[in-house]
Amino acid sequence: MVNLDQVLGFLIIGIVVSVASAGEQVVTYVFGDSLTEVGNNNYLQSLAKSNFPFYGIDYEGGIATGRFSNGRTIGDIISAKLGIQSPPPYLSLKPNDDAILKGVNYASGGAGILNDTGLYFIQRMTFDDQINSFEKTKEAIKAKIGEEAAEKHVNKAVYFIGMGSNDYVNNFLQPFLAAGEQYTHDEFVELLTSTLGEQFTRLHQFGARKMVFHGLGPLGCIPSQRVKSTRGICLKQVNLWVQEFNSKVKKLVATLNKHLPYAQITFADTFPIVLDLIENPTAYGFKISNTSCCNVDTSVGGLCLPNSKLCKNRTEYVFWDAFHPSDAANQVIADRVFASLSHEASSPAPAPSPRKFLSLKT
Ligand SMILES: *[C@@H]1O[C@H](CO)[C@@H](O)[C@H](O)[C@H]1NC(C)=O
Ligand SMILES: *[C@@H]1O[C@H](CO)[C@@H](O)[C@H](O)[C@H]1NC(C)=O
Ligand SMILES: *[C@@H]1O[C@H](CO)[C@@H](O)[C@H](O)[C@H]1NC(C)=O
Repeated sequence: MVNLDQVLGFLIIGIVVSVASAGEQVVTYVFGDSLTEVGNNNYLQSLAKSNFPFYGIDYEGGIATGRFSNGRTIGDIISAKLGIQSPPPYLSLKPNDDAILKGVNYASGGAGILNDTGLYFIQRMTFDDQINSFEKTKEAIKAKIGEEAAEKHVNKAVYFIGMGSNDYVNNFLQPFLAAGEQYTHDEFVELLTSTLGEQFTRLHQFGARKMVFHGLGPLGCIPSQRVKSTRGICLKQVNLWVQEFNSKVKKLVATLNKHLPYAQITFADTFPIVLDLIENPTAYGFKISNTSCCNVDTSVGGLCLPNSKLCKNRTEYVFWDAFHPSDAANQVIADRVFASLSHEASSPAPAPSPRKFLSLKT
């Protein structure tokens, strides 16, 4: 028995893949944190920056662009698979730049679902800020191509959203910040999902229909969390909390798909994929998954600084710094996410037609 949620999800990826293969350009708008940022924080007074070596050492030309990786992000790799350029950072564009029609990346390191998350990084674009920026983009698109065409344009685009890691790592799990003391986890996850519901609804009001939400990975296994255990092992409790968040968001997505007209929101579950990579690194050609290549495993800081001592072979490490996967790991994760989704999208199993789905919801 296939659940409706999954069918809808595969349908969206099916649309993305079929549009891409029909030669029509997919337009994507990206919202997120340091896992998806491509350089917005370069323009901000932020402590969460990565536009210095050794970031980008394996990127084209060895340039530190503001990506929090030695090379590409998962989004870069998925864009390449869709045959499009990875969209540029919002803050690198003029408000009425023609490039906004081809897609924009609003992601900002340190950002979270909650406004308070990442407060100690000083400036960052929170998810609400990113949605406000998208509203401005939409106004600019209207001014360019007219109201009706603009509406069609934003309805057709695909919205990639990856948010929530910082609400845990740089908020709930930091004992010196308010949220961990103020809330039980039940209350916190409720606050996150109800806020997220409002944020999806606002994006929908601005015309977003096809949205893909990337669930959280096993945050209890990232180097900055492992160092909190005496033996350097994954924090089970953290992984349980993250899974609870993921399952609440899955339910939220199902509800929103029922209630928001024409909404086609997908929950992309990366948790099992990333956990398998961490538990069985050698199966994927890696050697080490319990410490970072940059050797900066601390629970605060944890970024790869110019005076860090890098590992000898960067393709042997799943983690680049204390928070972020390496370019090689991003390749594996992107491949596995994309393969499973496109396989389902092109499978001959009978699937309801898009028209049927849409009529279910009117
Ligand atoms: C975040 O702050 C903005 C004002 O800057 C406000 O409009 C919004 O409701 C706040 N969001 C949350 C989740 O508290
Ligand atoms: C990582 O795992 C290896 C092999 O199990 C172990 O020898 C090493 O001490 C671990 N490193 C850390 C930082 O926990
Ligand atoms: C780096 O590690 C990979 C994977 O183990 C291996 O295939 C490659 O030959 C290594 N490169 C060097 C320069 O040692």
